[in-house]
Amino acid sequence: MSVEIINIQSIALAAKLLESGQLVAFPTETVYGLGADAQNDLAVASIFEAKGRPQFNPLIAHIADISWVERFAVMTPSALLLAEKFWPGPLTMVMKRTKDCPISHLVSAGLDTVGVRFPVHPAAREMIAAFGRPVAAPSANISGTVSPTTAEHVNQGLGKKIPLILDGGACDVGVESTILDVSCDDPALLRAGGIAVEEIEDVLKKKLRRPEINPDAPRSPGQLLSHYAPRLPVRLNADHAEEGEAFLAFGKAEKATLNLSPSGDLKEAAAHLFAYMRLLDDPKYKGIAVMPIPINGLGLAINDRLKRAAYPH
Ligand code: TXA
Ligand code: MG
Repeated sequence: MSVEIINIQSIALAAKLLESGQLVAFPTETVYGLGADAQNDLAVASIFEAKGRPQFNPLIAHIADISWVERFAVMTPSALLLAEKFWPGPLTMVMKRTKDCPISHLVSAGLDTVGVRFPVHPAAREMIAAFGRPVAAPSANISGTVSPTTAEHVNQGLGKKIPLILDGGACDVGVESTILDVSCDDPALLRAGGIAVEEIEDVLKKKLRRPEINPDAPRSPGQLLSHYAPRLPVRLNADHAEEGEAFLAFGKAEKATLNLSPSGDLKEAAAHLFAYMRLLDDPKYKGIAVMPIPINGLGLAINDRLKRAAYPH
C-alpha cells in the first residue's frame, strides 16, 4: 500500500488501479471514500470484503460531470433542479436505474435505484474524470467504525487491504453527504448530512418527506431494503431443485440453472448474487432453490441477503 499526495502521477495511478478492478481510497469534501469501478461486479464485491461488512447496503456512484447521469439513471424534475443548485457538492440523489443501466447490481444492492453523487473536491473530481466512468464508494472505514476524514484515518483501518490512498489532507465538511430519494417527484430525506434540509426545501419550495426511521438503527439500510425481494419463493440450503424450480448453485454442482461461483469463491458469488437472483426471478419457474453458502468472509453478507429473500412475504 502507498499513501500518495495528489498530483498528475498519483491521479493517473489511481485511474489505472480502478481500471484493473482494484480499490483506491480518495478524499472528498465530506469523508474519504473507498472507490472501485462501479461497472465491475468483482471490484465492487472487493469493497464489501475490505470493509468487512456483514450486510450488502447500496453504494453511492460518484460522477465527474452531470452529463454522465443519463447513461445510467433517470433524472426527475426535482433531481434536475437540485443538481443545478447543489452539484458538485455533498448531496447524494437516489434515482431510478435506466433499463440497461451498466452499473453493477451490487452497487444498488439489488434495488432498481442507484445513489448518485457529484463531489466538489478537486482530487475526487480529477480522479473520477481520469477514470472516465462512475466510481462506487462507501466511506473508507472498516464497518462499524467512524468515517475517516484524513488519509491517516484510512491508513489505520484499511492500509493493509488496499493498494493506494490518495492524501488530500483533512476533509472540509467532515460529515457524509445528505441523501435524498428523488426517484419519484415527491423527494424524501434518507440521511441528513452536508447540505442542510432547509436549504433543500427552499429550492424545492416544499417539505421533504421523511420516511419513518427506526430509532434503534437510524442508518440501517436494511429497513430501506425491506421491500426488495424476489417475487418467487426462495428455498435455502437446497441440494437439488424440485420440479419447476430454478437451481442457484455454489461450488461443484450438477444441473445448476446458474452458478454463483463454480470454484466456490465467495467474492465471485457476491459479485453475481443480485444479478443472478434477478435473472432467476422469472415466472417460468415456480421458485428458486439455493445451495448452502458458507458463512465466512463475504458469505455472511450473502447469507443475510438470501435469508431476507427467503422470508415469506
Ligand atoms: O459523503 C458521502 O456520502 C460519502 C462519500 C465517500 O461520498 N459516502 C458515504 O457512503 O457515506 P456510505 O456507503 O457510507 O453511505 C451511503 C448510504 C448508505 O447508507 C446507503 O444505504 C445509502 O447511501 N444509499 C446508497 N444508494 C442507495 C439507494 N439506491 N437507495 C437507498 N439508499 C441508498
Ligand atoms: Mg459509511
